[in-house]
Amino acid sequence: MSERLRVGVIGAGRWSKTAHLPGFHRSPLCDLVAICDLDESLARGASERFDIPDVTTDAREILSRDDIDVVDVVTRGDHQELVFATLEAGKHCLVEKPVCHDYRDVWRAHELARSRGLKTKVGLTFRYAPAVMYMFDLIRQGFIGQPFIFNGYEQNSQWLDPDNPMDKRIHKQKPRGEPEWGTDLSREGITVSSLEGYGAPTIDIGLECVGSDLKEVVGRLANMVPFRRRTNLDTERERINIDDADMFMAEAENGALFSLQSSYVTVGNYPGIEARIFGSDGAIQVRLVEEFGVIQTIHTATPDAVEFVPREIPAEYFPPGFTEDDHWGTAFYGNLVQNFCEEIIAGGDTNQGDFAQSARVQEIINAAALSHRERRWVDLPLGDDIDGGQQSPY
Ligand SMILES: NC(=O)c1ccc[n+]([C@@H]2O[C@H](COP(=O)([O-])OP(=O)(O)OC[C@H]3O[C@@H](n4cnc5c(N)ncnc54)[C@H](O)[C@@H]3O)[C@@H](O)[C@H]2O)c1
Repeated sequence: MSERLRVGVIGAGRWSKTAHLPGFHRSPLCDLVAICDLDESLARGASERFDIPDVTTDAREILSRDDIDVVDVVTRGDHQELVFATLEAGKHCLVEKPVCHDYRDVWRAHELARSRGLKTKVGLTFRYAPAVMYMFDLIRQGFIGQPFIFNGYEQNSQWLDPDNPMDKRIHKQKPRGEPEWGTDLSREGITVSSLEGYGAPTIDIGLECVGSDLKEVVGRLANMVPFRRRTNLDTERERINIDDADMFMAEAENGALFSLQSSYVTVGNYPGIEARIFGSDGAIQVRLVEEFGVIQTIHTATPDAVEFVPREIPAEYFPPGFTEDDHWGTAFYGNLVQNFCEEIIAGGDTNQGDFAQSARVQEIINAAALSHRERRWVDLPLGDDIDGGQQSPY
């Protein structure tokens, strides 16, 4: 394939405008040809801002077009139906996490894509941060030697304020017929939220850092802020039993130890990610926490120079059109989009951060939730033993 890819985007909300649309708009490898949102004014606004010729409120119009190669799903809530419809329509698919709540459904989507020769990509945004891409290359070049310990954190204070509605969709009327997530007040009944919404990208980074699958997980989900507004239409707070803080530890098949902590009630700024990998020959620490205009840092240490020193991130890790003023979402997604376009155009098997990787991450999330519910270590792979419980629409 030599011509530019033609892209249709479903969802013109906040994240689409901050991350996805700027990425496709700046990439020299593709053209944005259609934008869809249930809210027509949002789709029209995005069309004007990003020079997108066609506007629709019906996703089927995008899926049925023969001249669209790539469909990007940036809606909120469940993505599963649009993901399967995109693949059935024969389009390469980018989707926000989670692809599906049950890791087995993510594998099904992966198999469907593979059987049709389609590439997939998931919004595992932070593996495309220049600092993280640089860290992965240092690890590939042997900087850390044998991996011993990974610590991952993804946390900020997005929902510390109990009046910030837990369901971030903008409802014009109260949603009906959805599972009443957060209403089971038992310890076991806690709804998975932060672990899936926040933990996923850092689990992804951790798997790459240790270079191995996990074989055992033990974890705990907790609810620190018990009373919250459920949606934008609720004026009162109610008791919602939801995972707003969690921790798990795990052992990898290669013997490395792995820990993860995620929360959206921990004081600190976005995106709130820290990844630390310690090995026999060196250690690397990356911070993706926007502080005083700096969106990323990387520090390294070696056994003979144990004080961590900052490293400059080489220019080759920055996306097309990057400017120092870019929001972190724009900067990191620029690399994600460019990488996806390159993978599609190149053909072949290379496909980082795809549905297979997302299924590995989702399986760990399902396992940590099961460990919490049953108060035990959980072996991986999970098989059919999952019962991850309810998930919030975050
Ligand atoms: N990867 C990341 O770092 C990251 C960061 C922020 C948000 N996200 C994810 O991005 C997704 C979108 O978040 P957001 O903040 O933009 O939400 P949002 O509510 O602002 O926007 C979603 C838009 O999708 C539209 N929509 C929903 N269903 C649709 C359908 N069937 N057809 C057409 N349009 C439809 C809605 O009208 C809305 O405008 C969520 O899944 C969120 O978790 C990921």
